[in-house]
This record gives sequence, structure tokens and C-alpha cells, in this order.
Amino acid sequence: MDRTETSAAADLPPCGGDARQGRGGSSRSDKDDQSVHPTLAVRGLETQFHIGQSVYRASNGVDLTIRPGECLGLVGESGSGKSVTAMSIMGLVPSPPGVIAGGRIGFKGEDLTDASNARIRQLRGGAVSHVFQDPLATLHPLFSVGDQIVEAIRAHQSLSTREADAKARDLLDLVRVPNAAQRMKALPHELSGGLRQRVSIAMALANDPELIIADEPTTALDVTVQAEVLRLLDGLRRDRNTAVLFITHDFGVVSEIADRVAVMYAGRIVETGPTAEILTRPAHPYTRMLIDCVPVMGEPGRRLDAVPGRPPAVNRLPAGCAFADRCPRVESDCRRGEIPLEEKRGNLEARCLHPLEAGEALSGDVRTAATTSDGTPRHGRSA
Ligand SMILES: Nc1ncnc2c1ncn2[C@@H]1O[C@H](COP(=O)(O)OP(=O)(O)O)[C@@H](O)[C@H]1O
Ligand code: SF4
Ligand SMILES: [Mg+2]
Repeated sequence: MDRTETSAAADLPPCGGDARQGRGGSSRSDKDDQSVHPTLAVRGLETQFHIGQSVYRASNGVDLTIRPGECLGLVGESGSGKSVTAMSIMGLVPSPPGVIAGGRIGFKGEDLTDASNARIRQLRGGAVSHVFQDPLATLHPLFSVGDQIVEAIRAHQSLSTREADAKARDLLDLVRVPNAAQRMKALPHELSGGLRQRVSIAMALANDPELIIADEPTTALDVTVQAEVLRLLDGLRRDRNTAVLFITHDFGVVSEIADRVAVMYAGRIVETGPTAEILTRPAHPYTRMLIDCVPVMGEPGRRLDAVPGRPPAVNRLPAGCAFADRCPRVESDCRRGEIPLEEKRGNLEARCLHPLEAGEALSGDVRTAATTSDGTPRHGRSA
């Protein structure tokens, strides 16, 4: 394994527009200094599941870049490959049937592609940590939350139990768990969903990570708690200059936390750019349709259609654009050949032959446009 600063991952070209387009908050010197390695640089990631004779291309040539203190939102419907992409970074894809068939993963200039298991274990829970949708999946039901945080700390730092105990309490205070000393003794099921997610965030912060991978961390929470957890994560990454990969199917959540967005469809990034630009004037019809699914304050009468139709199965991807069967702008050239992710306008890159103009709406009834190539209507639900 190559751990040098001149590793292949470090030499790879940037992707996804200017990774440093942030909302501020993190150190400007890091954000402005091109010589600083991105915290995460994923290039051409191909993660597949080989089942029988079928090959499911869950991540099909994915590029992602996140710089220190930056939050990248990875958005897409259920099954688009977000979690598999995230799990591939730290070797968490179950194998078999999962295989990383290609690409590179760079962490601060270090090429992790061929890293030893020992090195990956050292990074996992240390410099790179995860927060999942369901905290019960990561918390042991039979140990107190305090003991679990202490164990997470001591796995990576040589602190006495007493010192680790004090640090665990500080972490619970930091993530605003009320009455932290008391709560240290609680079992996970004795806490509310919101408090449990705060405990998982405290565990994720236990070893001062440089990258947090948060996979739908607020999806199971009610709206008020969701807003609190988002504020908390946002504040922490700004204070600590932590890079965050934030996965969600919800553009409303993205607008709250992400500096940049990468939209994923059928295993590929189909559009990427700064959050404000993506939200107000996306180039890709799929992004436009996802944004149109988000409720808007003050527009209670607005029709909120899910994106009609279903994505193609990733073991039988069609030629050309994978979105063609659902796209109101589809033309015959969309169904031929490889469609590259390329710069469209401003800082946006999109994988589309007939992108939207700035601010252009999708015309017509997208539900009737969402037909298969032989004209059969498709019905389904997004996310
Ligand atoms: N354990 C698995 N075995 C086989 N295929 C899988 C497995 N996990 C994921 N996949 C495949 O990868 C695709 C992407 O899954 P996932 O990354 O979980 O989607 P998302 O997080 O965007 O909802 C799925 O549609 C499925 O085809
Ligand atoms: S390439 Fe064609 S089918 Fe695909 S999103 Fe663009 S216009 Fe629609
Ligand atoms: Mg997922």
C-alpha cells in the first residue's frame, strides 16, 4: 500500500466542480489553498455485486471530492447507490457478493485502494467515522452508552478509563445530551431516537475524525429533532474543520447543510455543483424533478409529485442515458452511447445531452412523459 503524499490518488484530477465552494465557516487557508489535499478524493469507483450470472453495478464510475471543513450532499432515490458508494470508502461492503472492481479512494493524499486491513481498521472510527440512519444498528443493546463511547475512545487513544470516561461525558455535553453524567449509564433503548442519534454522533466524534460519513442520519427523526441534529453536525464540522459526506434522499435536508451536491442515479453521478446553484437552476431534468418533490413553505397547494417511474435495474442498464425512460426531454440521441459528466454552465456539471437552461422548468405533464421506450407508462415512487 502506498501511503505517501505523492500517491496516485493525490495526483488524480479534481472532480465535481470546485470543491472549495463553501458557505464559509471552515478555515479559509485550507479552503483557498489548492495544495491542501482533499480529505476525500474518490475516482472512478466501481462497486459491483456478483449474484449468479448477474453483475449489479451499484457504483458505476463515481467521482467525489471533499475538502477539509466542507459538506458534500450525496442525493438520489432509494437504490441509486449512495450507501454502497459510502460503504466502499472504508471497506464496509459485504464481500461476497460485493466487489470493488475499479477506481481509487484517496484520503488526504493517501491511496487507500490497496491499504492493508490493519490500516483501514486504524482509520475506521478514528480519522474516518460513520453515522447511520438507525443508531441502534451501531449501538450494542446490552452496554451503557457511556461504556460504548469509552470503548470507542480507548480503541484509538491511549487514555486511562478515567480519562476516557471524562472525555465521553464531554462529548455527550458537546452534542447537547442533557444531564450527560446520568445518561452515560443508560442503555440505548432507554433513550429517545433523537438522543440515540446524538450518542452516535458523539461516538463518531470520539477520535476527532477528519471525515464523517453520515448516511441518512436524520431520516428516522421527527422534523424538529432532525433540524437540531442538522444544526449540531453543521456547527461541529465548521468548528473542527471536519469534512462531511452527507447522504440523503431529501433535497430539503441538503439545502440545510451541504456546500455542494452530487446527485446520483442508477450508480452514477448525474449532476454536481454548489448547493445554491443546483437548487435554483439545475441543468439535469432528474435533479429538477427531485427538487420539485420538496414541499415549499407558503405553497401549501403545490402539487408534490414523486418522480414518476422507476430507475432501471443496475444489472440491466440501458444504452445511453439511464434516465431516458423517465425523462420528459428525452430525444433519440439520448439512447445511444456514453453520456459524459461535463461542465454545462456556471459551476454545474451534468450528464445530459439536452440540459435545462438556468431557471427553466420542465414543460408538460411529466407523468405522461414518463414512459418506457415502447410508450408503456411506468408507475412507481421515488425515494
Ligand atoms: N448486499 C447487497 N447485495 C446485492 N446487491 C446489493 C446489496 N446492497 C446493495 N445492492 C445493490 O446496490 C444498489 C444500490 O444500493 P444502495 O447503495 O443501498 O442504495 P441507496 O443507498 O441509494 O438507497 C441496490 O439497488 C442493489 O441493486
Ligand atoms: S440525456 Fe436525454 S434522456 Fe437523459 S436526462 Fe438528458 S435529456 Fe433526459
Ligand atoms: Mg442507503
